[in-house]
Amino acid sequence: STTSDVTASGAAKEPLITDDWHVNTRIYRDPSIFARELTNVFHRTWVFVAHESEIPQPGDYKTAHLGRQPVIVNRAADTGAINVMFNRCRHRGSAVCQRDTGNANFFRCAYHGWTYSSSGELTGVPFDDGYDDFDKSVMGLVHVPRVESYRGFVFASLDAGVPELPEYLGNATRYLDFIADLGDGGPELVSGAHKLVYKGNWKLQIENTIDPYHFSFTHKSWLDILKDRTGKSSTWVKNVRTNPDWRGIDLGGGHAVHEYGRLEDAGNNAHAIAIGELIPFNLNIFPSLAFVGAHLRLVVPRSVDETWVYLYPLLPKGADAETRSRILRDHEIFYGPSGFGSTDDIEVGFDRVTQGNEASASEADFTLMARGLHREVVDEEAGTRTGRSSDEVPQRAYLRRWLELMEAGDE
Ligand code: FES
Ligand code: FE
Repeated sequence: STTSDVTASGAAKEPLITDDWHVNTRIYRDPSIFARELTNVFHRTWVFVAHESEIPQPGDYKTAHLGRQPVIVNRAADTGAINVMFNRCRHRGSAVCQRDTGNANFFRCAYHGWTYSSSGELTGVPFDDGYDDFDKSVMGLVHVPRVESYRGFVFASLDAGVPELPEYLGNATRYLDFIADLGDGGPELVSGAHKLVYKGNWKLQIENTIDPYHFSFTHKSWLDILKDRTGKSSTWVKNVRTNPDWRGIDLGGGHAVHEYGRLEDAGNNAHAIAIGELIPFNLNIFPSLAFVGAHLRLVVPRSVDETWVYLYPLLPKGADAETRSRILRDHEIFYGPSGFGSTDDIEVGFDRVTQGNEASASEADFTLMARGLHREVVDEEAGTRTGRSSDEVPQRAYLRRWLELMEAGDE
């Protein structure tokens, strides 16, 4: 589909995405589109904020974002309930929680000292003779409208009318279930996260997370190092081109997966744990959560050309020391911010694309996202579209949903 052909003022408008999948580079560089996608996409969907293993004890908290909006995610010190509250003091707006993670029975604002319980009630106001008719009970931290957990993965939504979380996740639940079944009670995010910042649009990281097409080019130096170490050439290119078990699937709802092995042969069934044997797929959950290798990746949009990325190793509960160490070493060597993979992707996939997209005149405005479009296999009943490994099926999956939400929000 395309956006409508005219703007509100009646002027001709160029489409954001054409029917034959030319993508207007304005979606990566126009601040007004960024502002619209915060309200139309990030404020209308379920956004991942935490895994329950990050806040196991009463009082444990972390800070997170719904789009750009700062929230505190915690387990109430008294009831143990999971809260997601705006990280904003009701007095004059200071963020009351400054740390990434911690444990606290209360939050005290650093500006004038208003104090909130871990469930958000306003419990203390210094010099409280300063107001007429002051009702502390309505001045607590504001809870976001919707919070739900799916098998340990906690999502929040600013839209009270968003569908129930399992319905929203749809076909992606099969893959989340696979991850939640790992080890002896699912993965733990106990080693913390690496955070990286890049100067480019958030959607570039989403598109890159499931893009087997780039791997043998962008990461050639990595494949060369592996060859030096092992004496064997990588089978990557051959698999991408010919292995029928390697495929990209649009799961519907903006979610997508790239399978590079059979689920039946992996995870807890695998004897040797290696990348592709533990979690044999990369997964995008619309709009900003992904799984890559044995890592959870969370993308936070900051501005049209600044993005934060959090990367957490997923350590299966009860896994032996060798498996845990393997996952952590993979994180350091390849996926983490100073690993071979991330540094390649940031330079080639994000910096250079951001640079290139500065060229904007008529046809130079459009990139091509049509790879494999003609050979997508559509299954109407399942709500999926399947393509070959190097096809741009996952990118079209998220952009389809993105465009629907952008258009719906503008009506
Ligand atoms: Fe928080 Fe004043 S802004 S106490
Ligand atoms: Fe990459």
